[in-house]
Amino acid sequence: MLSTREIKERIKAIPPLSESVRSAMDLLNGKEEEINFMALTQVLSTNPALMSKILAIANSPFYGMSGQINTLAQANIVLGIRSLRSIVTAAGLINQLPPKKNDLMDIQAEWAHGLGTAIAAAAIAELKGLDRELCFTAGLLHDLGIFILVIYFTEEYRLVIDQMQSQSVTLEQAEQKVLNTDHCEVGSIVAKHWRLPKAIRFCIAKHHKPDDIPSYDLNDVVHIGNILSRGLQLGGSGNIPVSTINPMSLKKLKLTVDDMAGLFGDIEKNFQASLSLVSNC
Ligand SMILES: [Fe+2]
Ligand SMILES: [Fe+2]
Repeated sequence: MLSTREIKERIKAIPPLSESVRSAMDLLNGKEEEINFMALTQVLSTNPALMSKILAIANSPFYGMSGQINTLAQANIVLGIRSLRSIVTAAGLINQLPPKKNDLMDIQAEWAHGLGTAIAAAAIAELKGLDRELCFTAGLLHDLGIFILVIYFTEEYRLVIDQMQSQSVTLEQAEQKVLNTDHCEVGSIVAKHWRLPKAIRFCIAKHHKPDDIPSYDLNDVVHIGNILSRGLQLGGSGNIPVSTINPMSLKKLKLTVDDMAGLFGDIEKNFQASLSLVSNC
């Protein structure tokens, strides 16, 4: 078994965010009126793959601007800096992780699960008057730790999957047993290493344990979005069991089972319409 130190050492060796993603995120981090849009355009023009992913997200059904945004300047004028910030974070992370299909887990299907979570979380946020965009990005990236473990700890993670299936335990329980950590902790270490926004880091760390940060509604939304995405089978590799929604999260958000059922149709429709966003992962 790997020691916690070995795991942390290996995580430290994971490449940093690419220069263009890092610079773009830094440029977008300042006050809206002080953002140097020319410098942002310059940085992004050095990375065509990132730019095309940004435009794909800007034109996705989530923003309701299908096919109308062809340049970064249009995205800025039509959607605004706040949206651009979310889009660059989502696009940067999707492009950052090396695509890898293996017999252990279908990475593309797991990105689709992230997309399903993003869409479900955004639907709940909209219903409850919360930050829809932040919920979308946090939902998309909530299982960052699974990608890291599958890609960079493949052989150890094979034991985790075996353990989960043979012992009928949750993924997090199997991870704790085999690795003495879980995808939430690993994801949050990497998120810190990559300097992702705090709000997203919290959801990566706590989406299975909403009780740990009871005052943080965004995490409850992502927690529920994650389970809806698994339950509605929106992507996912198929070998991860569906867990149950924490009743405290429902209570805090004043969200009923009927409220959620009322969202299923739109969630499924938007998911199918957005799948191309993760088709090259
Ligand atoms: Fe998870
Ligand atoms: Fe998940």
